[in-house]
Amino acid sequence: MTKVKVRIPATTANMGPGFDTLGMALKLYNEIEVEEVDRQTEIYNNNLKSEEDFKDNLIYKSIAETMDRQKYPYSGFKINVIRCDIPISRGLGSSSACIVGGIAAANAIMGNSMNLGDIIDLATKIEGHPDNVVPAVLGGMVVSLKVGEEIKYSKVSIPNKLKFVAMIPSFQVSTALSRKVLPDTYLKEDCIFNISRSAMLISALYNSEFDKLRICFGDRVHQPYRKNLIKNSDAIFKKSRELGSVGEFISGSGSTLMAVLDGNVDEFIKAMREFLDELEDKWNVISLEPDLEGVKIAG
Ligand code: HSE
Repeated sequence: MTKVKVRIPATTANMGPGFDTLGMALKLYNEIEVEEVDRQTEIYNNNLKSEEDFKDNLIYKSIAETMDRQKYPYSGFKINVIRCDIPISRGLGSSSACIVGGIAAANAIMGNSMNLGDIIDLATKIEGHPDNVVPAVLGGMVVSLKVGEEIKYSKVSIPNKLKFVAMIPSFQVSTALSRKVLPDTYLKEDCIFNISRSAMLISALYNSEFDKLRICFGDRVHQPYRKNLIKNSDAIFKKSRELGSVGEFISGSGSTLMAVLDGNVDEFIKAMREFLDELEDKWNVISLEPDLEGVKIAG
């Protein structure tokens, strides 16, 4: 029976003011193998059988939803997670990777009966918002929005000189909790604040106007409410500015913090690592380049 291998990139969503709208794929990957079998589904991690109930597994749920949508009959799957480099619940798109990986695997097994638009619409329906799943499918930086159940998207080119450094803590922040802390309504001036910054962010990237990026990453919709869920985020952002970043933002719903640099990152990483080593929680600092390929069927 058919067996496919899928590689899915991490993503950083929101990117400051673009709540539920902006996202970028990163060169950090999960890889899964999915084999159609004529028995009940089993989940494996690196060929070791997992005790987890397959019905709770997001990769399985996404495969099943895809095949049900296409009316494709199945018994079960052997799902083997062979690489899991995207840390869980850290704002780097780990759930989006499960969803996009599951849909892409299912589509390949079914003989690619779904087009890109179908895949993106279904992934967004499962995830609830498009900003992680669309760049995970397409690669690169993407603006995406919902028109009813349909997703419209537009790719943004990222200047080569721009570098991204992720500060990833040992603690997790759940997306459910970090969405719950947000208000239901916003003041008009806060809406204008975010609309203006997200519009200018796209044009500043287009024009490589890096001196405008700090202002453009400004946000009053989610970060002011979420930063309290991420211990030391203010101090880390301050340190990042002192070390020369051109901007910084909470990656997705956190807990990862992202610094944006114009040029070399080695000195920044070294100094930031020394700073983070003094904090009570463990933090990892890594440079992450944009991924431009998106989800890939590897075999
Ligand atoms: N836009 C989403 C949020 C990304 O900020 O809640 C995390 O899934």
